Amino acid sequence: MDTFQENIENTVKNLLAKVGEEKDASKIKRDTKIKDGLGIDSLDGIELISALEDIFQIDIPDSNFDSSLKVGDIIDLIQARLNAAAERSQGKIDKAGLIDSLRVDKSPLEKISFTPYYRNIESGLASKIKIGNKEFICLGTNDYLAIANNRKIKAAAIKAIKKYGLSMCGTPIVIGQTDINRAFELKIADFLKQDDAIAFPSGFQANTGIFQLLANKDDVIIADKNIHSSLINGCLLTKAKLRFFKHNDAEDLKLALKGSSKYRMRFVVIEGLYSTDGDIAPLDKISSLAKEFDSFLIVDDAHGIGVLGKEGRGILEKFNAYNKVDLITGSLGKAIGLSGGFISGKENIIDYFKYNCPMYFYSTALPAHIAAAAIAAIDFVQKHNDLRIKIFKYKDKLFGALKNMGYHLSASETPLFSILFGNSQQTLEFSKLLFEKQIYTVAFIPPSVPEDSPRIRILTSAYLSDKDIDKAISVFESLKKDYAG
Ligand SMILES: Cc1ncc(COP(=O)(O)O)c(C=O)c1O
Repeated sequence: MDTFQENIENTVKNLLAKVGEEKDASKIKRDTKIKDGLGIDSLDGIELISALEDIFQIDIPDSNFDSSLKVGDIIDLIQARLNAAAERSQGKIDKAGLIDSLRVDKSPLEKISFTPYYRNIESGLASKIKIGNKEFICLGTNDYLAIANNRKIKAAAIKAIKKYGLSMCGTPIVIGQTDINRAFELKIADFLKQDDAIAFPSGFQANTGIFQLLANKDDVIIADKNIHSSLINGCLLTKAKLRFFKHNDAEDLKLALKGSSKYRMRFVVIEGLYSTDGDIAPLDKISSLAKEFDSFLIVDDAHGIGVLGKEGRGILEKFNAYNKVDLITGSLGKAIGLSGGFISGKENIIDYFKYNCPMYFYSTALPAHIAAAAIAAIDFVQKHNDLRIKIFKYKDKLFGALKNMGYHLSASETPLFSILFGNSQQTLEFSKLLFEKQIYTVAFIPPSVPEDSPRIRILTSAYLSDKDIDKAISVFESLKKDYAG
């Protein structure tokens, strides 16, 4: 044993002699048990750990203490933590340190004894949702047109389950896909007036799959600074340079395009309807710039589809821009009322994706009943401009009332908007007040949104009634004194 180890051993034994029942340190051996041999229980153990932390200037998680330990285990633990600390100072980390670092700071939530996240909802989406046996007016769902619980669309899914079962249990390239899956791909492509599409189990998967197939280290991706995390994650899977332009600012995009002529290809990435502010991309200007600079335009219209345009075809319908984008992606988990995602565009690009996109062919396909329901949902979306009129009207009423009361709101043009707050704590506290009044909303705090724009997002879906909107307005009126925006 070297002197360093000997020192650790003597220090630990002296400390154990102080804390435990055996007062003669020389009688304490490596195989002496902490509890049975020295009478140190878990409470003494915590004291022991904190003394060891002070002496050796290391962190020892309480979870490392267990009264069945032997003296030698503690000595080895200290030695390991000291070695780890030395390695960390050289930029390394041991496994225990890594695991220990993986903790979520829940102190803002603990401070107010409330969490708006991962709630167990005891009902499906409907005019009211049930939590803890109470009914809530839901201003949080992305199911704009109230499709997720629509009787006819559920019937389409049930019919498909009866025919195809629950899953093909395999990746589409290996096991194949059901004919209804293919019919859905052609349906969404046709709806968006594109050649073809491929369906993914989620919109996130679709967006992460795009960029590595298109861009390489000689390219630049120029993205709106507010694009969704799934797109950013996709961009980060390439070696292309990633640059951002100011949100919805075509002039800034133009500057970025001008300044990047040295790249092999410039990709421009935007959303159609932005999912936290509820504003719409100026696709007319952006697509003209993409054309002028011969760049490849990708639009994620997860929130726009079903919401924008008389027939709900989204941003492409709003700007009559069906042939002005190179790829359009979307989620079925918003106004289509289901789950899943897709990429749509020119036939050869989609075919290339089918054979090259790992997020597609290494992942079990969208279940057939979702594909069947999605076909029915697209027909529903197309037919129901009345519901779009209704949700825009509700948004205008609620938005107008809140604005008059002095709430700071995002510059929304759609049925989705955010109430802006000064900081995360105020956002969470206000979200608790709303919850106590049985209004269900979604709180966004960093890192989901930038540090300076925590918010509560409101979405006026077709599940709501005039009465619900009036009730929500009266709740916001009663809480306006508690609002700190
Ligand atoms: C703009 C946008 N794109 C993509 C996604 C991901 O879609 P999905 O939930 O289907 O994975 C979301 C979901 O929040 C989104 O808001």
